[in-house]
Amino acid sequence: MQPLSSRTSTFTDSVIRRMTRVANACGAVNLSQGFPDFDPPKALTDRLAEIGPKGPHQYAITFGAENFREALSDKHFHFSGLRYNPQKEMVVTCGSTEAMMAAMMSVCNPGEKVVLFSPFYENYGADTILCGAEPIYVPLDPDTLKFDADVLESAMKQPHVKALVLCNPSNPSGKVFTREELQVIADLAIKYDLYVITDEVYEHIVFEPHKHTYIATLPGMFERTIECSSLSKTYSITGWRLGYVLAVEPIMDRLKKVHDFLTVGAAAPLMEAAVTALRFGDDYYQELQDHYTHMRNMFMEGLRNLNLKFMEPQGTYFVLLDIREFGYEQKFAGKLAEGEYIDEKFCIDLAQKVGVAAVPGSSFFREPVNHLIRLHFAKKDETLIEALNRLEGIGKLK
Ligand SMILES: Cc1ncc(COP(=O)(O)O)c(C=O)c1O
Repeated sequence: MQPLSSRTSTFTDSVIRRMTRVANACGAVNLSQGFPDFDPPKALTDRLAEIGPKGPHQYAITFGAENFREALSDKHFHFSGLRYNPQKEMVVTCGSTEAMMAAMMSVCNPGEKVVLFSPFYENYGADTILCGAEPIYVPLDPDTLKFDADVLESAMKQPHVKALVLCNPSNPSGKVFTREELQVIADLAIKYDLYVITDEVYEHIVFEPHKHTYIATLPGMFERTIECSSLSKTYSITGWRLGYVLAVEPIMDRLKKVHDFLTVGAAAPLMEAAVTALRFGDDYYQELQDHYTHMRNMFMEGLRNLNLKFMEPQGTYFVLLDIREFGYEQKFAGKLAEGEYIDEKFCIDLAQKVGVAAVPGSSFFREPVNHLIRLHFAKKDETLIEALNRLEGIGKLK
């Protein structure tokens, strides 16, 4: 048999999904893969039940059902002040995952480069490789999550750089980029004529006093921002696979074609049901924020009571825990095989011996950072309490 594609030969199994399998095998509380274990809003599931027998059940128009796009345009205008034309400037995709892929494929030629901040959500590396492009990484300091503007500029000005990917609020770090930081990025994107492809799936999960700023709202950025987001996190429907891209018409014209060839379109009955959610009033978003603030505070307090060190998230539902005090570095010095990392060893022990599953931070960092693990807290109180009870036994890993 001939070899399979060389472009995809470097792909490894997703570490997050691997940790989910480890969690399932040993009955650990799964705080690795980020999805809620509570129900979506009832109005949304009621609407889905109504649609079941009635439909629509056939293909929707490829760039998304019209009522969905109109509702999305209104909702986005309400929160950002930017009005995207539902006919010309948006496409509904199968999650932000497809949105990002379609955006990158619309922008990049093989051999071109894309700037990513590290740590980064693991799909971005794969997306660039699938386009034949090359990722360039700009580190966020693992302690402060700040970037060095000079390092960013030297990455953005390299030949053949086409775009920068901005995940804001950011998975896995929980960082919410400030307006000043976004201005630095925007100035450089304009100076070097780059597209900014955003992933804003956590736009509504931001903790006070932090605020989400859409980079597309900064002067000169509307024309060059390709905004990707999704309903997965905002309405607790990660399995519905509804996402979207917003961009000006010349970009969107191309993107719609890429989307059509990739997936034809998002699920018609789910788009129909989701219009209900897109029309929710401000109270829904306030309750969402209150609920996530409650989960975050409860989990943080539990971690603090256990004297664990962690980075307080500004947004998203992830927290990075510092595992240096457990001495894995020393325990495994000189004993690791190629491709093995101490944080991965730690996560496997944590799942098997303590009963809580997390994701090794090294899977998000390009730099050799392996003293952090990622836990998520989009869980019912009882799940978080169970996880915290089990974490009381974490001392046995020392
Ligand atoms: C930063 C980020 N982007 C995208 C996704 C996937 O989004 P979707 O379900 O819309 O494909 C996730 C899921 O965890 C994520 O954390």
